[in-house]
Amino acid sequence: MASSTVRPEDQDRLAGEDVARRLLDSASKLSYDPATEVDWDTPLDTAHHGASPEWSTLYGTAYWQELTDDQRKALTRQEAASVASTGIWFEMILQQMVLRDMYAKDPTDPRFQWALTEVADECRHSIMFARGAAKLGAPAYRPRRPVVELGRAFKTLAFGEAAYAAILVAEEVLDVMQRDWMRDERVAPFVRTINNIHVVEESRHMKFARDETRRRLRTAGPLRRQINSLVVAIASYYIVTSMVNADVYANAGLDSARARAEAKTNEHHKSLMRSSCSGLMEFLASARLLTGPALFFYKRAHLI
Ligand SMILES: [Fe+2]
Ligand SMILES: [Fe+2]
Repeated sequence: MASSTVRPEDQDRLAGEDVARRLLDSASKLSYDPATEVDWDTPLDTAHHGASPEWSTLYGTAYWQELTDDQRKALTRQEAASVASTGIWFEMILQQMVLRDMYAKDPTDPRFQWALTEVADECRHSIMFARGAAKLGAPAYRPRRPVVELGRAFKTLAFGEAAYAAILVAEEVLDVMQRDWMRDERVAPFVRTINNIHVVEESRHMKFARDETRRRLRTAGPLRRQINSLVVAIASYYIVTSMVNADVYANAGLDSARARAEAKTNEHHKSLMRSSCSGLMEFLASARLLTGPALFFYKRAHLI
């Protein structure tokens, strides 16, 4: 059929199917089974960091200067475990939103099949993060109770671009950290493998999330765009601010009150977040999701 005879909505659908088909093809060529790829058996070597020290919430503070090398390593191990645990929390939200979105849709559609592939990826990721956090010697880190309940409402109600844009923000923020950690020889080898697996598989998820966000917004009216841009920004705020649990400092053997206070005003960490998220913010701007009220929350989360 000549393209001039295809209706715009069909063209849109065909383009989406094409993206999904390419993602399925890529996944069939390069996917990982963390159960066999990650070295789970070698005991943890405490000579390693859990994350690149520059990503520590205390890096650049006066307190960081006073810490011994061992204390710094203990801290980044707890921080990496907390990020992984928050990752599990969000991946569970995400899986439910994707499953709800695909409920009773056409199973022959490549987008349907890609969505289930993504859910399967996330399921493996969450198990991988759970084992990784345990190996790092961390307890269960979960967001604060009100945030857990907000997440429960969000995963039950969010749809369309609100769901896919929030998925994108969470995946991008994790991605920028993990790209640094996976290449860093100071980081424990098994953590680097976990990050490498996640970066490779999430790059496909982010492509799908960007594509779905754009497509869903095409049919959204101004009011819906305003509401959902704010919903996405609030979700992003709670995802980002839940990444590093306040208990990591005590669990790393530090003075918790001092660490929390210095982390809160750590300009190095804030500017690292802002510079790492510039690409994401450009995308949200191009999708016209950076409305005034939304910007307020992205600024508060130091994403822009
Ligand atoms: Fe994931
Ligand atoms: Fe993902």
